This record gives sequence, C-alpha cells and structure tokens, in this order.
Amino acid sequence: MLTVNQSNSFAQQNNAYAASLMRSTASSPSPHSVCKCGAMHPSESIDRTKPQAETKVELEDEIPNNKFGRLIEDLKKSLGPDKGLSSEDIDVEKIKEMMELYESDELEWGKYALNDPSRSYTRNGVIDLNGNANLLILVWNPTKSSAIHDHANAHCCMKILKGTLKESLYDFPEKVGNELVPKKETLLHCEDVGYISDDIGLHKISNPLDNEVSVSLHLYTPPYASLYGCSMYEAGNGKRHHVDMSKYYSYQGKLINPKDSSAC
Ligand SMILES: [Fe+2]
Repeated sequence: MLTVNQSNSFAQQNNAYAASLMRSTASSPSPHSVCKCGAMHPSESIDRTKPQAETKVELEDEIPNNKFGRLIEDLKKSLGPDKGLSSEDIDVEKIKEMMELYESDELEWGKYALNDPSRSYTRNGVIDLNGNANLLILVWNPTKSSAIHDHANAHCCMKILKGTLKESLYDFPEKVGNELVPKKETLLHCEDVGYISDDIGLHKISNPLDNEVSVSLHLYTPPYASLYGCSMYEAGNGKRHHVDMSKYYSYQGKLINPKDSSAC
C-alpha cells in the first residue's frame, strides 16, 4: 500500500500508462483564460450545455474492500441516481456525518493521494458517484494555498485526512477593484469536516504546516466544476477568471495528467 511520500515513485512508474491515456484525452481550453463577461456574480454564466473537456477517464471504477471503500459505498447509496443534482435534493448533514464517521487511515486512501511537489496542491480523482457527484483527494504542499475560488453552484464537503488546513472565507466581490479581505478563517484538523457552497461565499484553502503535506477528501455534488470549470478571483482586485478543472492529476490511483492537471 502506498503512502503519500511513496506516491511520486508510483507516479513515475505509471508514466507510460499515463502517456497512452493522454493521447486519447480531448484537448481543453486554457486553464486561466480571462472571463470576457467580467461580471461579479458566481458561475451562472458558465455554459453548461457541453463539458469543457473529456472528463470521464476510461478506467473501471473500483471500490476498495476496506473502511474507505465502505464510505464510498455509503455515499454512493445516499447520492443515488436520482439525487444530488439540485441544492434541494441533497442532505448535506447526512453526507457530512458519513464523512465524519470515517476514521482516516492512510493505508486505505494513500494509493489515491499522489502528489506533484512542483504545484501548490494536487487533485486526484477517486471515483464518480452515479454521475451525480465526484470524490477527490487533494494533497496540499507545505505552506501552499489555492486561489480564492467559487464552487460552480455545487455543494462541497471536505474531510481532513491528514495534517491541517486553513479555510479563509470571503464574500463575493460586488465590483472589480477592491482587495478581497477574508471575513473568517478556520483551522481544520485531521478528521474535521467542512462544507461550502456559493450560498456561503468564496474560499481559499491553505496548508499552514511548514514541513508536512496535508491531505483532504472532497465530495462535489453536482460535479459541475470538473465538467464546466469554476471561477477564481484575484485577491488584489476581485477580478474573476474562469478555470478549467477537468483534468485530474491521477484517477483511481493512476497518473493520467503528469504535466497539465487542473487547479485553481
Ligand atoms: Fe474549494
């Protein structure tokens, strides 16, 4: 079983496999193209009529036979084929409770937690849940942060699997030009579960630890960000940019985008 530190050697071993997958993957827009709209509302303006890139990786989704696998099964049942597609349709508290009940065990989730040390954080796809949600494991390098971002009108539940993360919460900017100032900062420790949606605001996630990676499990429902992208906001002036989030670094523990995986 792989640990986070071992995952890079695992990744290198899979380069040939990844190269063959990349040849069959459709191209995607520039990950940081400036939004022409310029308006400050969240992601309603994103075209959801077609995915921005090929997001379904042709790998069979396997569920491990351990406690992490049972969490996946429970989430899958809860987000059955008819649920999770609208804000009214999902029981966020139930999802959070399931994630809280899972006791983090790196021997169980470590195979999914690949890390690219050249990036602030690495997005690894774990599984697609009935097409209604996706489950990701993010690995955060020491002292690094995401951009300030929205959640594409989806729910995001996040459990800390290892280390500590800081969430900085912001209001959506009313106009371009003003510096974004956090309205709340929260430290989330191992086993804690957080939640955000665009109704709450924007956030930025940081790893405050000097020497250790932190790892988090994210459930997004609906999976709009992976399908259509989300928006990031410049801290200095609130300017909004559309970001392609379709390319996982790995999927089901196998490296698929070693050079151009998505992040914001
Ligand atoms: Fe987020």
